[in-house]
Amino acid sequence: MARFNVLAILLAAATLPALSQQTVFTSWEDDSSRWTTFPHPITRVAVIGAGPSGLQAAANLLTANLSVRLFERAPAPGGNWFYTEETPVREAYPETNSTTPATLPTEFPATHYYEEGEDGVSLDERWREHWQPRPVWYNLRTNSPAPLTKLPGISHAPDTPWSLSVHDLERNIRAYASLHGLNVNDQPFSPPYSPVTSCSTRVEAVRKCNETSTWTLTLRRLQWLPESHRLKADWWTEEFDAVVVATGHYTTAYIPRIKGIGNWSMAKENGEYNMIHSQSFRHPERYAGKTVLIVGASTSATQLSRVIAPFVSRLIVSVRPNRYRDGYGYDILYAFAEKAEIVPEISSFEPLDGNGIGIRAGRIRLVNGTVLEGIDEIILATGYRANTFLPDLVNPRTFDNLDWRGHYIHDPTLAYMLTGSSWTQHASYQGYGFAKVWTGKARLPSRERMWADYQSGRYRFGTPLDILLQEGLRKLYVVWLNAESLELGGQFVDPLPLETREITSYFVNAHWRKDWLLHENWTRFDNLPFNEWPKPGPAHGQHQCQWRWRRVQGCIVVIHDL
Ligand SMILES: Cc1cc2nc3c(=O)[nH]c(=O)nc-3n(C[C@H](O)[C@H](O)[C@H](O)COP(=O)(O)OP(=O)(O)OC[C@H]3O[C@@H](n4cnc5c(N)ncnc54)[C@H](O)[C@@H]3O)c2cc1C
Ligand SMILES: NC(=O)c1ccc[n+]([C@@H]2O[C@H](COP(=O)([O-])OP(=O)(O)OC[C@H]3O[C@@H](n4cnc5c(N)ncnc54)[C@H](OP(=O)(O)O)[C@@H]3O)[C@@H](O)[C@H]2O)c1
Ligand SMILES: *[C@@H]1O[C@H](CO)[C@@H](O)[C@H](O)[C@H]1NC(C)=O
Ligand SMILES: *[C@@H]1O[C@H](CO)[C@@H](O)[C@H](O)[C@H]1NC(C)=O
Ligand SMILES: *[C@@H]1O[C@H](CO)[C@@H](O)[C@H](O)[C@H]1NC(C)=O
Ligand SMILES: *[C@@H]1O[C@H](CO)[C@@H](O)[C@H](O)[C@H]1NC(C)=O
Ligand SMILES: *[C@@H]1O[C@H](CO)[C@@H](O)[C@H](O)[C@H]1NC(C)=O
Ligand SMILES: *[C@@H]1O[C@H](CO)[C@@H](O)[C@H](O)[C@H]1NC(C)=O
Repeated sequence: MARFNVLAILLAAATLPALSQQTVFTSWEDDSSRWTTFPHPITRVAVIGAGPSGLQAAANLLTANLSVRLFERAPAPGGNWFYTEETPVREAYPETNSTTPATLPTEFPATHYYEEGEDGVSLDERWREHWQPRPVWYNLRTNSPAPLTKLPGISHAPDTPWSLSVHDLERNIRAYASLHGLNVNDQPFSPPYSPVTSCSTRVEAVRKCNETSTWTLTLRRLQWLPESHRLKADWWTEEFDAVVVATGHYTTAYIPRIKGIGNWSMAKENGEYNMIHSQSFRHPERYAGKTVLIVGASTSATQLSRVIAPFVSRLIVSVRPNRYRDGYGYDILYAFAEKAEIVPEISSFEPLDGNGIGIRAGRIRLVNGTVLEGIDEIILATGYRANTFLPDLVNPRTFDNLDWRGHYIHDPTLAYMLTGSSWTQHASYQGYGFAKVWTGKARLPSRERMWADYQSGRYRFGTPLDILLQEGLRKLYVVWLNAESLELGGQFVDPLPLETREITSYFVNAHWRKDWLLHENWTRFDNLPFNEWPKPGPAHGQHQCQWRWRRVQGCIVVIHDL
């Protein structure tokens, strides 16, 4: 990733006096009690998830000669961008809070052959439940610019438009996987020749009994056996000294608890549900000539409105009052298709008549008292629940209990990929940081110090939505990584090239909101000393330090949530 870079050194040197009082630049202090130490050497590292973040983590850990295993529940790397016609198993209506623990065998390894219809579940549904097809549609295009939406060292084909198709981006990610020997069936060239990546392999549980023991991952791989029309499941366990969680943020659909939604969710026509969540949307043709209601006012809602608009006869969008802003805080209404009729929030779905066919005759009551009738199809673009992987440790929306580098402060052998921006260097800084910390090439402050930094609120850069705070996080990484390399050895990392600002501004101003991000926005931030950096606003500042880890039989037991 990194070449020796004069600019990085100058930046590190220039920032030294101000930052040394601010606990950022912590080099040249040899009091070992200031640093985190690990009870045993770290050689084996598991990475969970082969999306853009997990791939970059694995690549950096391999470069540091750690023994790496990368587990991916899908049949191939690509993460969110692995497009298939398969759709996720239907979500629960109404929403439940349950975190159903995976059913695990009592002894390992174990094997089971699933037959069609076993326990009332089809093989197809069992397969999809295992790997969770992605929430992306056939003609999805990125809302981030191509020059910044790619993985390190992999270019897009010449003349690729700035708004990428899902397929272009999938290829970029899989090319990166191949470059680093992390694609399906890639074999390493050196001993012990054991493959790094295990696809169709879901991590079911992550356990550690105490600080001196190792992490035990419980794994389940599913394989189709077409000749006997069965699915083979293998369960086994593997031991690791450290674990990186890179499981993404958009796994579990959020279904609002609107009165009557359960009743409407069961209505079907020609074998297809009339109400779907945007995660199952694949093609617009199905909506040809219909009256369609979209619920939601963020990117999925606006993008889908434009995807289906040319096909539908009438398009209605239900938006909550006073929430005409998307996750990025900008006015959303202009972003809907022109033919979209904006209506208020839904208060209830009146019970359907009982013939079970379609919803056209049903009545939808809005909060202002108006009743909508004659709707053929509903798309809930209502977003996702905070990913519940490792539910009791970390809420990835608020990043509870994590140091700004992603280490779980209670036990820094567990680390999370935090990146809102998984592209270009960002996730590589994180992966490189984990590799350096675990191989002794970078020091992590003591846990007391990490808690103090955490509680100060200064380092809460976890939110992907604030471009300038993300810039701040990258600055911290460049200073910290390069200072540690100077002290302990290792390559230097480059800051993001300055032109990325221009690219970001150009794209954001054209695609999101006019004149939103100007040159001055960046340079103003440039010239601020660290202690005057903007603090995270209330949206991501509400969270409290929560000591929310569940102890079961003396172990940290973490169970995969379906
Ligand atoms: C509809 C949609 C559109 C988007 N558009 C954009 C865009 O235009 N630009 C942009 O920058 N971002 C966009 N995003 C955000 C997207 O999440 C990121 O681009 C990126 O994919 C995040 O990478 P990641 O590696 O962190 O997570 P992911 O890409 O989600 O990868 C996580 C991986 O972890 C695996 N995994 C999860 N649990 C387990 C388990 N228990 N065991 C094994 N493996 C597991 C998953 O199978 C998955 O492959 C979009 C998201 C959505 C939903
Ligand atoms: N590349 C692309 O073009 C593209 C396309 C789709 C998604 N994405 C990305 O995917 C991620 C998820 O986006 P998302 O749009 O699916 O989810 P989201 O940003 O979480 O938005 C969910 C929307 O649903 C609304 N909502 C929830 N309950 C509702 C209810 N009862 N009635 C009316 N509205 C309700 C929310 O409104 P409130 O604010 O009132 O809660 C919000 O507007 C984002 O990172 C986004 O950038 C990108
Ligand atoms: C990794 O191992 C190779 C081969 O032994 C060696 O050349 C390289 O310097 C090592 N890299 C690191 C970061 O230790
Ligand atoms: C589910 O969790 C939410 C948020 O914690 C809470 O408001 C709601 O009451 C819970 N609902 C049920 C049915 O447990
Ligand atoms: C930690 O776990 C290991 C392995 O399970 C065990 O041998 C050891 O006694 C445990 N130590 C403590 C302090 O509980
Ligand atoms: C309620 O909203 C609908 C749809 O926007 C609108 O046509 C109607 O006039 C509103 N009713 C009232 C009482 O404001
Ligand atoms: C909806 O509820 C009504 C009244 O309780 C019932 O008759 C009907 O069968 C339900 N419809 C569906 C699709 O479940
Ligand atoms: C950029 O600066 C302008 C002018 O000060 C301000 O209105 C705008 O909110 C800033 N943009 C962002 C994204 O912070």
